[in-house]
Amino acid sequence: MTTLVIRRPDDWHLHLRDGAALRAVLPFTAARFARAIVMPNLSPPVTTTELALAYRRRILAALPAGAQFEPLMTVYLTDHTPPEEVARARASGRVHGFKLYPAGATTHSELGVSDVRRIEPVLERMAELGMVLEVHGEVTDPAVDVFDREARFIERVLAPLAARLPQLRMVLEHITTRAALDFVLGARAGLAATVTPQHLLMNRNALFAGGLRPHHFCLPVLKAEAERAALLAAVTRGESRLFLGTDSAPHARHAKEAAAGCAGIFCAHAGIELYAEAFAAAGALERLEAFASHHGADFYGLPRNSGTLTLTEQPWEVPAHYPFGNDELVPLRAGERVAWRLTERA
Ligand code: DOR
Ligand code: ZN
Repeated sequence: MTTLVIRRPDDWHLHLRDGAALRAVLPFTAARFARAIVMPNLSPPVTTTELALAYRRRILAALPAGAQFEPLMTVYLTDHTPPEEVARARASGRVHGFKLYPAGATTHSELGVSDVRRIEPVLERMAELGMVLEVHGEVTDPAVDVFDREARFIERVLAPLAARLPQLRMVLEHITTRAALDFVLGARAGLAATVTPQHLLMNRNALFAGGLRPHHFCLPVLKAEAERAALLAAVTRGESRLFLGTDSAPHARHAKEAAAGCAGIFCAHAGIELYAEAFAAAGALERLEAFASHHGADFYGLPRNSGTLTLTEQPWEVPAHYPFGNDELVPLRAGERVAWRLTERA
């Protein structure tokens, strides 16, 4: 039986929701990850430092007894975010980034930014203070093919922005394409990207395998096999600008299994185990630790965690669903096997 011991990892992109949903999903993340960058796309969104600090307190209150977990908060940018918010966020010591959702790009992004030029003074302030911009990198132009929205965003928005503000630190979240890899790996200093387990393990065929599969729908949408293979090759060769971000995004079953199902894949129940599968498939298990536990902390200027996780190659069957408030949550691989198991935390 193969086992792997790694330094305790962090999740650099996570949706925890609020209320009963938060209480349902938080234990999965806290059992695995020491810290997580918590997305601010609640309804209404977390648009100020004050709201982020209040949300942080609700997360801490929802932690299971004895859990050791630190939520790293983010603030949701709107067209009206004042530049002064950046200094408030920095001074809090609890807010670690601002999230850019192009308005209309994804779940709860309606109040996002209509044009980055409108928030240029905020971004300038972030560059000055070294605050990280987390980016949902997709154009919203309905004329652009849904599979091309990430590449077009890089050309139209991200590359010009990176050039205009050379000091701005940015994480391109949940990348899905060779275009994103080429951009991030070839760009100036201060740019990085997160990669989800779903985009390492599945291609777009998974959306249609045996029928329409709403639980495989997320944004950015799964891409072609060549894109998936390129992502896996890049993370498993140890690129230090790439790090773990599950983008675990829970939605109630009825909201997914609908005529217009919500985007988001819940994967926190196997949030490190699924990456172990991907790295093992590429014969690069020894590279998992740096991707999961070093690169992100180094980019954000935070200490690496102490403590370890032990992962064992020992298949287990994922439940068909988990409780989710008054509803049900269908996890990735529901009713199927995950090849790796979390066997110890020290
Ligand atoms: O699939 C997604 N789900 N992509 C996002 O960008 C948002 C997320 C969510 O909040 O459900
Ligand atoms: Zn997300």
